Amino acid sequence: MNIRISGDKPLQLSTPALVIGCFEDDRDELFAACDRALDGLLGRLYDSREFAGKPATSRLLHTMGKLPAERVLLAGLGKKKDLTVERLRRGAGNAIQALNGARVASFASALHLCTDLPEALEAVTAGSLLGSYSFDLYKTREKEERFAFETMTLLQPDPSEAEAALLRGGAVETVCGGVKLARDLVSQPGNVVTPSYLARTARELADRHALKCRVYEMEELERLGMNALVGVGKGGAEAPRLIVLEYGGGKGRPTVLVGKGITFDSGGISIKPGPGMEEMKTDMAGSAAVLGTLCAAAGLKLPVNLVGIIPTAENMPDGKSFKPGDVLTSLSGTTIEITNTDAEGRLILCDALHFARQFKPAVMIDLATLTGACVVALGHEASGMMGNDQRLMDALKRAGERTGERLWQLPLWDEYGEAMKSDIADLKNAGSRDGGSISAGWFLKQFVGETRWAHLDIAGTAWSDKARPYSPKGATGVGVRLLIEYLQGK
Ligand code: BES
Ligand code: MN
Ligand code: ZN
Repeated sequence: MNIRISGDKPLQLSTPALVIGCFEDDRDELFAACDRALDGLLGRLYDSREFAGKPATSRLLHTMGKLPAERVLLAGLGKKKDLTVERLRRGAGNAIQALNGARVASFASALHLCTDLPEALEAVTAGSLLGSYSFDLYKTREKEERFAFETMTLLQPDPSEAEAALLRGGAVETVCGGVKLARDLVSQPGNVVTPSYLARTARELADRHALKCRVYEMEELERLGMNALVGVGKGGAEAPRLIVLEYGGGKGRPTVLVGKGITFDSGGISIKPGPGMEEMKTDMAGSAAVLGTLCAAAGLKLPVNLVGIIPTAENMPDGKSFKPGDVLTSLSGTTIEITNTDAEGRLILCDALHFARQFKPAVMIDLATLTGACVVALGHEASGMMGNDQRLMDALKRAGERTGERLWQLPLWDEYGEAMKSDIADLKNAGSRDGGSISAGWFLKQFVGETRWAHLDIAGTAWSDKARPYSPKGATGVGVRLLIEYLQGK
């Protein structure tokens, strides 16, 4: 979709559709002028409650020649005083999904003009771009019906603002490009996105953005002693890998991002039940978020140093698979008794986190679809957060609130480690189900040393079974906007 900025006045522009923001309890000048041009139609809709400006509602109207715009799309925003950036982003997402439903490929948006929130234009741009996403690579039958947006015109009647708006629009496009990369990787099936595919994607990103990239293959992983990662990858048809991507945009110690890259999690020998197992193609969403963030950060030329580390493997049952009862000696030297091969994420991460320490990180953040228990605790509205540094977690939480990718902190008290003590090794990889997200987080904590660190469990937020205003059903790309916001806010 092309984005352009136009200085035209909303009611003078000829366009297939004009989007305007509507409050429940306030009718601004644009609303009133539109209502007059349409002979009181908007007021009529409000009076009859057919459309009353409620959040998450919209209404598409034909103007029948009464306005230069062929259609007007009313986007409900709720009560004026309750308007937030997130609500505006959702409004824009709902609007573009309504336009998608009506197959209106080009439109002009005045949505951001209904408020003086400084982030209004960015919110509308992001909500529109993110809401227009679809993954239809494998739809071969409905080609004729396929629909793509062409042009979104953002109205900016104040010429002094236009240039800044253009720049900000470009930056939003870059970030949403990172989200799209992450969503595409998560949407792709496990027979396409494999460890070698993730490595190829990282190399392509490195070429495009002049990043440093190194991929550690099986032999090297064994030589280094990354036996936890190697152990998990043993049963896969493809060998495991460790991908390291470096972006140098600033001075000082880097922020290290670590992403879980299990390209399919069958559970291994401790195999998962069949129903719903297909969703386990999304078990590399942490790695997708890391790749998307590096792509966006490099595209924005953020003045920071970043290292992305992705341990990737397939978790499959096989004669060569690691098994319950096995003991693995991790890179740090800590020995781990395997009590459940389905608790594989913490194994590949523990080696990656230990490996990451050589970069002397200023902070380290890992993202992982780590535990079903996190979905039980928080559902799909927030990612779980744990860590050893409150200042880092507070900064991440703020970034989560600003982007709508919310985080909720769970405790990481030492007592939670009791569940992870093994009779024959230093640790075991799975405890009881009780507090399962926290014992997993506690396990990871054993491998970060003194490094300032936060762990984000995105098991409930990486994939959505229902369409959301600016995230259609499926992969959400969670983590990219959050991390970019965090990196910009530092
Ligand atoms: N990838 C899963 C966690 C998961 C569950 C992600 C649902 C997304 C949606 C992880 O590897 C896993 O299987 N965890 C086990 C751990 C248990 C065996 C200790 C779980 O949560 O059941
Ligand atoms: Mn698992
Ligand atoms: Zn997993």
